[in-house]
Amino acid sequence: MGNVYGLIGCPVAHSMSPSIHNAAFLELNSQSYYQAFHLDPTELKEGIKALKLLNIKGFNVTIPHKVSILPFLDEVDKTAKLIGAVNTVVNENGRLIGYNTDGNGYVESLQTVLTKSLNEHRYLIIGAGGAARAIYYTLASKGCSDIDVCNRTIENAGMLVQQCPYEVNSKALSIKDAQEHLENYDVVIHTTSVGLHPNVSASPIKLEKAATHCVISDIVYNPIKTTLLKNAEERGLIAHNGVGMFVHQAALSFELWTGQKPNIKTMTNIVYDKLG
Ligand code: ATR
Repeated sequence: MGNVYGLIGCPVAHSMSPSIHNAAFLELNSQSYYQAFHLDPTELKEGIKALKLLNIKGFNVTIPHKVSILPFLDEVDKTAKLIGAVNTVVNENGRLIGYNTDGNGYVESLQTVLTKSLNEHRYLIIGAGGAARAIYYTLASKGCSDIDVCNRTIENAGMLVQQCPYEVNSKALSIKDAQEHLENYDVVIHTTSVGLHPNVSASPIKLEKAATHCVISDIVYNPIKTTLLKNAEERGLIAHNGVGMFVHQAALSFELWTGQKPNIKTMTNIVYDKLG
């Protein structure tokens, strides 16, 4: 008999997580199964109880529950606590333990396009929300010491920088300021919703001043190629899309649940197939 795993969120109907996790189970000859569960915010507490009754062994958590689930867990690991959000829950004999694999998933994916080691780069993060926090703190925890944050609301970037528990040389900037000094960065990471459907032609920052070796990274994966990444390619810069982050965060969840590493390539191909 296999185990049940899943995803809670609202909406979840178009999630690609069931496809990639179920493909991974199949490839490992496991009879386990991954199911998406639509849970409205008002149903969170009862929903979690129901999942426990089903003896679910683990589940992912997506919008809008990543923060609000924390009080319903028995334990939250250090990284998830620091990020303030949970995207993965492991059921250990009835005890629910929260993790966050977003930051590590992102960094694993980014490393596939970097030519030097992680802490030899100067980073600019655009945005100061939950995704920016996960990426910023993960980079900082891995010894990156040169990370600036720019944001529409500069105060929010300032708070992110101030609250960082690691020793980092960081500045909070306006987007305009960062844009004018873009040559200072080796990697630019975009984490806001600018460029998402329906405003797909919008771009968060102009790339004229970017250094020729600069990596432009967008955590969005739908569309695969945002306007920001199109602009990067037009300038001959390295464009890194959000598919890798999505796949790697999923693979890290899978490993927490099963102790097994899924095939990243299979998962990646499924995402590209589905996104066309
Ligand atoms: P997530 O968890 O996906 O990171 P979030 O926590 O809501 O989402 O954060 C949204 C981020 O996108 C913030 O940095 C936000 O900027 P503000 O702090 O100024 O609100 C940014 N953002 C959202 N809409 C934006 C827009 N139209 N232009 C520029 N930045 C925007």
